[in-house]
Amino acid sequence: MRSSATESGTAVSAPRLDIDFVRTQFSGLAQGWVLFDNAGGTQVLARVVERMNDFLFHRNVQIGGSYELSQRAAAALFDGRRAMMRLVNARRPEEIVFAPSSTVALQNLSRAMAGQLSAGDEIVVTTTDHESNIGPWAGLERCGIRTKFWQPRGERLLLDLEDLGSLMTPRTRLVAVTHVSNILGTVNRIDEIARYVHERGAEICVDSVAYAPHAAIDVQTWDVDYLVFSLYKVFGPHAAVLYGRHELLAELDNLYHYFYGKDKVPAKLEPGNANYELAFGSTGIVDYLGELGRRSGSAGGERAAIEAAFAAIRAHEQRLAERLLGWLRGRPDCRILGLPSGGDPGRVPTISFTVAGHDPGELARRVDGYRIALRYGDFHARRLVEYLGLAGANGVLRVSMAHYNTPGEVDALTEALAEILGDGAAGVGVPGSGC
Ligand SMILES: Cc1ncc(COP(=O)(O)O)c(C=O)c1O
Repeated sequence: MRSSATESGTAVSAPRLDIDFVRTQFSGLAQGWVLFDNAGGTQVLARVVERMNDFLFHRNVQIGGSYELSQRAAAALFDGRRAMMRLVNARRPEEIVFAPSSTVALQNLSRAMAGQLSAGDEIVVTTTDHESNIGPWAGLERCGIRTKFWQPRGERLLLDLEDLGSLMTPRTRLVAVTHVSNILGTVNRIDEIARYVHERGAEICVDSVAYAPHAAIDVQTWDVDYLVFSLYKVFGPHAAVLYGRHELLAELDNLYHYFYGKDKVPAKLEPGNANYELAFGSTGIVDYLGELGRRSGSAGGERAAIEAAFAAIRAHEQRLAERLLGWLRGRPDCRILGLPSGGDPGRVPTISFTVAGHDPGELARRVDGYRIALRYGDFHARRLVEYLGLAGANGVLRVSMAHYNTPGEVDALTEALAEILGDGAAGVGVPGSGC
């Protein structure tokens, strides 16, 4: 594909999100704060917490025993695995590997892959990724594996398959790519990238951390080999999931005790065991999305309901994003990093910008005073911020929204920013100019 590997096209008509219902599901929203740091971590669903409590109060024993309670604990862990299988549309629960975080999941994956790589092999990473999906691969340089960087193009900072093509050789074994940059909010077309990578005989490892809260994951349709996401950014607890195609997981090195065979999937990749209560609590995420999908009009099965929920979420989030981006576009002193239109299906509502003459850190601290939580910095996507020449300037300001945010909250932020910036330029720019 010559064109950029980014989602494009027009938004389809989507069901409306029942925002009143949504907000009742997150107790953390009732603290009088506007929470716009959701790419850092979302609020947790009440039903997730209830399930964690349920596990800890009623089934908290070690799995693997012959006694009935131990079997009920094992069933809870398996329920978590099955729920994650359904969330990403994997083929079987054994394709789900639990980890404490996406960072650890990717570090483990790179360690477990080392046995199949030889000196002179190559791995392509992108400059737009979070360091979690770069560092573990670059770390394999100690084994003689070469790392190559896929750079974004032009003003819009898009990844282009032509550039990937010029990096790949017969020695390329893996392409590690972000699904959505946690700074730019740009959605990469993982299905097209996966096809391109597979046609050239390599595997693909996708970081879907910044995508997972906003749209449905479908590992089968996209035909990806490995994919990670963090549950605490998808309304769940502090844990993460690594999906891997079963036959590939079976080929990975064992990370657990010596007597765990290669065929012990996924246990050989979960040294010390998965966290039971977090895995079981995460079933609440899938339960919630199913309910949201049915409330959004889905009459189909669970998968259809999850997709309907995310269709409603996407439409709502596009309206939120456009409300903020429209305001930013109207200010000649603002530079939006990433696609300028909130309605663009090629972006999620993770919006980063700089304001000429203002330090992002100073602006963030002033916004704190309005009880609006946003963030500044490089968000561990250090290489992208260096590429943008912003590393020495406190990075960017990032407003990252979730589906429980409201238009009124966006207005509270733009009013606060207008006040902080003295409002000289507010609203005087040309909407759509993309500053
Ligand atoms: C895009 C992206 N990838 C990976 C990570 C790392 O996730 P974790 O905190 O689960 O290790 C983050 C965390 O912010 C992220 O935003």
